[in-house]
Amino acid sequence: MGKKIIIVGGGPAGYVSAIRGAQLGAEVHLIEKSSLGGTCLNVGCIPTKVLLHASDFYHKARTAAVPGVNTTAELDWPAVLAHKEQVVNRLTGGVSWLLEKAKVQVHSGFARVLPGLRVQVGGDTLSADAIILATGSANTAIPFHGSDLEGILDSTAALALRELPKSVAIIGGGVIGVEFATLFTQLGVETTVVEMQPEVLPTVDGEIAALLRQKLTGDGVRIYTSASLTGVEKGEGKLSVQLDQGGQGLSIQAEKVLVAVGRRPNTAGMGLEELGVAMDRGAILVDAHYQTSIAGLYAVGDCNAKLMLAHAAMEQGLAAIGHSMGLHAEGRQSPIPSCVYTSPEIASVGLTEEQVKEKGLPYTTGRFPLGGNGKAIIEGEDGLIKILTDKEYGEILGVHMIGPKVTEMIAEAALCMDMEGTVDDLIHAVHAHPTVSEALGEAAMAVLGKGIHS
Ligand code: NAI
Repeated sequence: MGKKIIIVGGGPAGYVSAIRGAQLGAEVHLIEKSSLGGTCLNVGCIPTKVLLHASDFYHKARTAAVPGVNTTAELDWPAVLAHKEQVVNRLTGGVSWLLEKAKVQVHSGFARVLPGLRVQVGGDTLSADAIILATGSANTAIPFHGSDLEGILDSTAALALRELPKSVAIIGGGVIGVEFATLFTQLGVETTVVEMQPEVLPTVDGEIAALLRQKLTGDGVRIYTSASLTGVEKGEGKLSVQLDQGGQGLSIQAEKVLVAVGRRPNTAGMGLEELGVAMDRGAILVDAHYQTSIAGLYAVGDCNAKLMLAHAAMEQGLAAIGHSMGLHAEGRQSPIPSCVYTSPEIASVGLTEEQVKEKGLPYTTGRFPLGGNGKAIIEGEDGLIKILTDKEYGEILGVHMIGPKVTEMIAEAALCMDMEGTVDDLIHAVHAHPTVSEALGEAAMAVLGKGIHS
């Protein structure tokens, strides 16, 4: 008899595991409390990228970014929002169709996990051979004076603004912070970013993050680093945002305040504490197969807080369903690329230079600035490709990019790393001309001090 699997959560981790489970012959039940597609499709990756696509196009048209093509641009914000909804509905509808086609049984409601690999949803109790928790995460709300004032937003509320504000202060210069800073400044909103660490995007390679800060500043974004929020007060038609920067008090004015200081796993109220599932600050602890401290109970995606990225969640979901069905015994981990949809884009995979130094690894760096790349020049864009390799064997340790199309280009570097490739492999791979991807080959040649166009 086939296995019965229950999946809790219909985001990227959940729906992907459900479809694979059905392909492997399991009877799959998926429980979702709100909309299929999770944060990514409904209020995360997808809607932000729709808005960023529109803002980038508007900005380029408004600034006549292509020499000789004179343009004027008018922003119809409600139409942009309507398009965002259409894209979201199309993709969530697609997920629903895929699940139906795979004969996954979808249940609406909030799931509670019961002893003996059982789940309660509404008045029903389901039992299974394995349960995969894929319950995602929610925006972290930090306590501060004035946190309940009107005009204080999280990223979900910021995506649904019916009218654009004249000014916005973004608390947190992480991924959400800089993507929204790009969006707002391109739309002509006066934008300020406040970041606690000495640089925006603290987890990104420092050289790349510094280049982004320069670009954002050049685009008119005011950035306060090593600064944290102390409180917000209601001012004259605006909010007055109080900051502490190195012990000095500062005050900035903005119509809206977007708080983007991280996300926390959704694990409360599901009976996990009662079951004794091992957790760390709300995140479910898992082994190499994404199995929790209870055999047959898995946790994938943001709820285990290992790596809060949709594609990592899908990968974990596939690994967990495979393991629960008796496959993927080795729990192999591929390098996970990460992308930031600013203008220009950022993409990276592997270790940053800071991490390589911290680990004390002997390494060589190859850099190629996009000022020497024909396609980037044609498109009026700039950037940098940076490769870190092991000094002895040339194995790729990390690849970091800022520039046009780099979120597409990072796949090549990720594949190379996954195959334990070396700098020679990147050099041997022929890159079509003219493309921005040639710059990856050039950066690889630069590792050996043999760059042609630099
Ligand atoms: P984050 O962890 O990336 O950044 C939060 C930032 O806020 C950090 O830089 C932190 O130093 C700063 N911070 C914390 N408290 C602060 C305070 N009181 N004052 C000033 N700064 C403060 O979290 P973020 O941006 O909210 O994103 C949440 C998750 O969603 C992340 O895991 C991210 O990877 C994921 N995400 C991924 C995207 C992508 O892949 N393109 C897009 C958006 C989000």
